[in-house]
Amino acid sequence: MALRRQRHQDTAAQQADVTGSNPLLLEFRARLEPTHADVEALTARYAFAIPTDRALAAIQRYSASGVVEIGAGTGYWASLVRALGVPIDAYDPAPPMSADNKWFHSSAAWFEVQPADETVVAQHGDRTLLLVWPTRDQTWPADALEQFLAAGGRTVIHVGEGPGGRTGDARYHALLGGYVHCVACTYGAHDLACVCGTQARWQQVDRVSLPHWPGHHDDLFVYSRRDVPGEPLGPRGR
Ligand SMILES: C[S@@+](CC[C@H](N)C(=O)[O-])C[C@H]1O[C@@H](n2cnc3c(N)ncnc32)[C@H](O)[C@@H]1O
Repeated sequence: MALRRQRHQDTAAQQADVTGSNPLLLEFRARLEPTHADVEALTARYAFAIPTDRALAAIQRYSASGVVEIGAGTGYWASLVRALGVPIDAYDPAPPMSADNKWFHSSAAWFEVQPADETVVAQHGDRTLLLVWPTRDQTWPADALEQFLAAGGRTVIHVGEGPGGRTGDARYHALLGGYVHCVACTYGAHDLACVCGTQARWQQVDRVSLPHWPGHHDDLFVYSRRDVPGEPLGPRGR
């Protein structure tokens, strides 16, 4: 068993990012059977999702004018995006080590995460908007999408789960085009949120698989703005 683990670790080290700058990926690969405590500790130290070279390359590819990340936590993803030479500003209302952040109150920051909530996207309509594990069932991720649209934003990258998962709420996923129909009304599932009044404003254009902790189903999704006929032009005339 010890030999098997050693071999796994050797292979993992060989597969590591060439820059060697992604310790969370190495930690993930070194654990054959991670415990709940492992996942909690590594999430608090790094991030909820595990970046890979392919995922980071996708962020670079879709971010010609740079990135604005909100809800950035420790700034782990932002630090790796910046390491690729991509301009990025990262925000969180409670950057580490803030006592107000239930996940990262004792975590060291990987990047200079500036204190701001979702309204900051209004200043960055020229960027790609990055959200990594936006909080489940809170309204701010959907508010961010609407404010980013109003600011003329064209590209959103969501790293997380799909509708009904652990990230975002029903309106957020409806705006991202994640519902063909309203599940609550179609099936009479009145414990679910109704999204009949929410129009899909983004369409998925790319997806990159991520390594997952057991029971997680997160991937990286890229969305382009869906223009609506008659919509007023954004601040940048588009
Ligand atoms: C589930 S954590 C994800 C953190 C980080 N993106 C990651 O994946 O590790 C959600 C983050 O959203 C932040 N947050 C809470 N309210 C927010 C708001 N109104 N606008 C932006 N971020 C918010 C929290 O402080 C927290 O750091």
